[in-house]
Amino acid sequence: MRAQRFYVTTPIYYVNDKPHIGHAYTTILADVLARYHRLFGVPTFFLTGTDEHGQKVQRAAEKAGMTPRQQADSTVIRFQELWKRIAITQDDFIRTTEARHIQVVQGILKDLYDRGEIYRAEYDGWYCIPCERFFMEKDLVDGCCPDCRRPVEKVREANYFFRMSRYQDWLIEYIETHPRFILPDYRRNETLGFLRKPLQDLCISRPKSRLSWGIELPFDPDFVCYVWFDALVNYISAIGYRRDPTFFARWWPASLHLIGKDILTTHTVYWPTMLKALDLPLPETIFAHGWWVVGQAKMSKSLGNVVNPMEMVERFGPDAFRYFLMAEMVLGQDASFTEEAFIRRYNTDLANDLGNLLSRWAKMVVSYRNGVIPWFSGPETEEDRQLRERTLAAAAVMRESVESLRLDQGLAAVVGVLREGNRYIEFRRPWELAQKGEVEALDRVLYALAEMLRIVSGLLHPILPNKMAELRRVLREEETPSRFDSLLRWGELKAGVVLARCGILFPRIVEGPKRGEGVGDMKSVTDSAEPSETGTPPQQGVMFLEYADFEKVQLRTARILEVSRIEKADKLLRLKVRMGSEERQIVAGIARHYRPDELIGKTIIVVANLKPVVLRGVESQGMLLAASSGGALRLLTVDGEIPDGSLVK
Ligand code: ME8
Repeated sequence: MRAQRFYVTTPIYYVNDKPHIGHAYTTILADVLARYHRLFGVPTFFLTGTDEHGQKVQRAAEKAGMTPRQQADSTVIRFQELWKRIAITQDDFIRTTEARHIQVVQGILKDLYDRGEIYRAEYDGWYCIPCERFFMEKDLVDGCCPDCRRPVEKVREANYFFRMSRYQDWLIEYIETHPRFILPDYRRNETLGFLRKPLQDLCISRPKSRLSWGIELPFDPDFVCYVWFDALVNYISAIGYRRDPTFFARWWPASLHLIGKDILTTHTVYWPTMLKALDLPLPETIFAHGWWVVGQAKMSKSLGNVVNPMEMVERFGPDAFRYFLMAEMVLGQDASFTEEAFIRRYNTDLANDLGNLLSRWAKMVVSYRNGVIPWFSGPETEEDRQLRERTLAAAAVMRESVESLRLDQGLAAVVGVLREGNRYIEFRRPWELAQKGEVEALDRVLYALAEMLRIVSGLLHPILPNKMAELRRVLREEETPSRFDSLLRWGELKAGVVLARCGILFPRIVEGPKRGEGVGDMKSVTDSAEPSETGTPPQQGVMFLEYADFEKVQLRTARILEVSRIEKADKLLRLKVRMGSEERQIVAGIARHYRPDELIGKTIIVVANLKPVVLRGVESQGMLLAASSGGALRLLTVDGEIPDGSLVK
């Protein structure tokens, strides 16, 4: 059955440190699922936020010489800025230090205490500070925390306990009779395995003498609430539990709690039993995704390999980052992050399969149809039919894969369509149809590709929101598709309209020097791809050069033989270059970007038929090509050996 409404949450993240790629992953995944559901027309509520109490935050604050409140206030901004930068569309952002949350937690504590679900007792046990959890002696592994394997501390104190143990049998039965409650299956088995041992009552307090940064227990001011008993409540406090019954009834129970596999027990044992004690229904699904490792190693501060998402976004843009994370991780399993894998996937799927297809198509529409997307008539060939059917099938697979949380399958189907589109061009050879004057067939091919691009841009919009909006502007379609149904139907694209200016959607990333060695050339490539272009308003009419005009420009490769400075012109260099049998002198304004000795031997691209000009008394017999962005400038060169003087087309 299709969802009537969709309430999706992420874990609320600790504000002890800035966000890393793992936090970005869960949040992007939730955002992508929320966007798909909105596209399906399902009323959607998407919640994320920050977990601001507890030992971890208090310790980070002490280390930074701040109060916990200052630590939280300065770190929460890092999360909020990142979410904005990567186009996260949360409907609410909850901080556990907000009054609306604290009141609900205290209300719940009081209620459970009054009903005897919480009681006071002397406690003797082992405490893991990083995990903020108590363990019995028998649970320890080699005397260490069974979860993180770090040393534990012996603690003896009075505390308050939640009668979690009384719900053990009920929980086991619930999990067994609700196969979609914990996903994937192997995580459900993990929880059932955990529940095979007797379940203890849960210590839900910390004496203020040991930890003061938390929500005070309403029935004992010497204690604060255990951070997990506070944090889990965010999923109901944010949507108005005990405050706004109508809103709460609209969204609870949650459709999906997305979590990492590290917090499975808290979500699949503590949380359901808390809800049961409160007489509230359980979330429909708790999905624990896998872990991002860096290369083969666990990501950790001490290894110095923590991937900073903001840095990735600045280098490659938010859409490329979102796409990589979604495409590379099979939901549930672990995935490895490397820069090489990132660049490979970007160049293959986005620059080649999608970007290239769009430019090839746009170029043909401009050359053969003066920029007007043609209507088609004439019979459908076998290849036309295949392209149409595969595209529509991919739309159906995408929907199914979102609903079954197998996003990678939907993505693979869409990328498959793009490859099919490129093959279709090779097979139908529109340039030959144009040459032979087979107008009807040509129009059908051009329209089919446009229609395929319309559907694909809609299907990928939740993952690549900026770039697909840009593509859809080219097609003169609404930037955000509003109805999924329109992606299940062929022939909806308006023909007869003039396509808008089409820049390079995904410039190829040329692997430059590694990080820290100056990333000039890699950056210059991606800069042009990101928001400045995204924000460019579509220009009216055909903004393309006629091919005949472009053909007038003669570009050739040239090898640099000699370089010298020009007196009193500190920006200019004089280059002697060879183009086949000919030698020329070129004056170029690149002295601030290259030393003369760096240039000798390079093969560059020169506009060879430009009228000579005299610059600072020196004749320039051509112009070289370079990419520039901000203050950076890099020369265009060729990708491998080719004789100098070769034509560039
Ligand atoms: O646990 N790979 O917060 P947290 C994939 N405040 N995902 C990762 C990851 C990685 N390497 N590292 C972190 C907390 N994550 C609690 C949650 S909820 C009521 C309270 C993601 O800041 C993943 O979603 O340690 C994981 O569950 C979460 O960040 C942990 O974030």
